[in-house]
Amino acid sequence: MRIVALTGAGMSAESGVPTFRDAGTGLWARFDPQALATPEAFAADPARVWGWYRWRAAGVAAAQPHAGHAGLARLARAHALRVVTQNVDDLHERAGSREVVHLHGALFTSRCSRCAQPAAPEPLLRPARAGDDGRVPPPDCARCGAPVRPGVVWFGEALPSAAWDAAVAAVREAELAIVVGTSGLVQPAASLPGLAAAAGAAVLEINPTPTPLTASATASWRCSAAEGVQRLAARLDAGERDPAALIS
Ligand code: APR
Repeated sequence: MRIVALTGAGMSAESGVPTFRDAGTGLWARFDPQALATPEAFAADPARVWGWYRWRAAGVAAAQPHAGHAGLARLARAHALRVVTQNVDDLHERAGSREVVHLHGALFTSRCSRCAQPAAPEPLLRPARAGDDGRVPPPDCARCGAPVRPGVVWFGEALPSAAWDAAVAAVREAELAIVVGTSGLVQPAASLPGLAAAAGAAVLEINPTPTPLTASATASWRCSAAEGVQRLAARLDAGERDPAALIS
């Protein structure tokens, strides 16, 4: 079966990586995205933004993929399953998923903020002394000397065109789209389930709470990512091959 898994921050919640919009615990409940996740914020105070992404990177590095990540990686060995994620963490890859499409970039890639020269890997995890306010000056570009920035997509920036094209191709070919752990609020990623449905795919939402995507989904499972992926894998392992029956 041709499956596309469209994952958001809720996919990483059970690994202890905070989501963005969960009340109280979400990053945007604790930090100001305009001051930390925009090109203007980085230009105004590179050390504050770089220090915050180092904090996020340290949290991801200390986290472990859970059974939901492992389940998707295992399913990809028996089915044509593509992972398209809004997440910048590397938990899908560490669970064994290959060719993960990162719509919003990847935390462990960095590039020059001026000439876009890719920086050496892992600069976010290099030893550095954080100031008392968490500010850490970013490294300078080896080619032009401008500050290096995290390889993530900030608010107001375009998605990487290759990633977007790969995501659209994956949803258009899919017989089943599983939408795991996203609030469905951020475009253009939030339009992908609709593109899948328009191309004839059954759409399963796995999320403990309803979202704007719920109304148009073929089915919604009110459960966690780990529970939902394992339930789906068990049904596929039992031989169910009709997408609508599989997710009913
Ligand atoms: N399993 C599945 N879903 C969960 C779990 C869980 N254990 N815990 C929370 N969720 C759900 C929440 O109910 C919510 O619908 O995950 C969703 C997380 O939503 P957001 O925090 O908005 O994350 P996401 O949809 O990925 O955000 C999209 O916004 O700020 C930008 O670039 C950022 O990629 C991000 C984008």
